Amino acid sequence: MHCSVIQGKVDDLVLAVKFSINKDLPLVSSLANCSKLIYDYFDNTSWAGFYITDDKNNLYLGPFQGDTATMYIEYGFGVCGKSLADKKTYIVPNVHEFPGHIACSSLSNSEIVVPIIKNNKVVAVIDLDSNLYNNYDEDDSLILEKVALVLSELF
Ligand code: SME
Repeated sequence: MHCSVIQGKVDDLVLAVKFSINKDLPLVSSLANCSKLIYDYFDNTSWAGFYITDDKNNLYLGPFQGDTATMYIEYGFGVCGKSLADKKTYIVPNVHEFPGHIACSSLSNSEIVVPIIKNNKVVAVIDLDSNLYNNYDEDDSLILEKVALVLSELF
């Protein structure tokens, strides 16, 4: 497995996220900036963005970079809905083998979804897609979990 982020940039991403958010503005502003930062930092990534938990505990589309995407994902459905339900990161090396995967792009072959958790509740998920198989690994999840921790302060 490879790390798709250059090691020297790891802390820079977390730092960049810290400097690109503002609790005093609407959530969408900070997440929009972060979607761009995340998209640029990870190699071979075709889509990067957020799904935000609503009051029914389902997910609606948040700020993202990439092609238009599914706007609503129910609890437990797709990789994002599973991450929401299980409160855990999913690294999916081959999306075609993931039961219930929701294909936003027919070109997507691998994915990583990381929950943003606040007070033991998943408030949003970070979702990255790649056209390559096996593009994300544990190193990537560690970085994104650090980002998720920073972003949890916004909710
Ligand atoms: N593949 C996701 C849906 C969102 S798109 O990847 C942007 C899923 O299965 O939940």
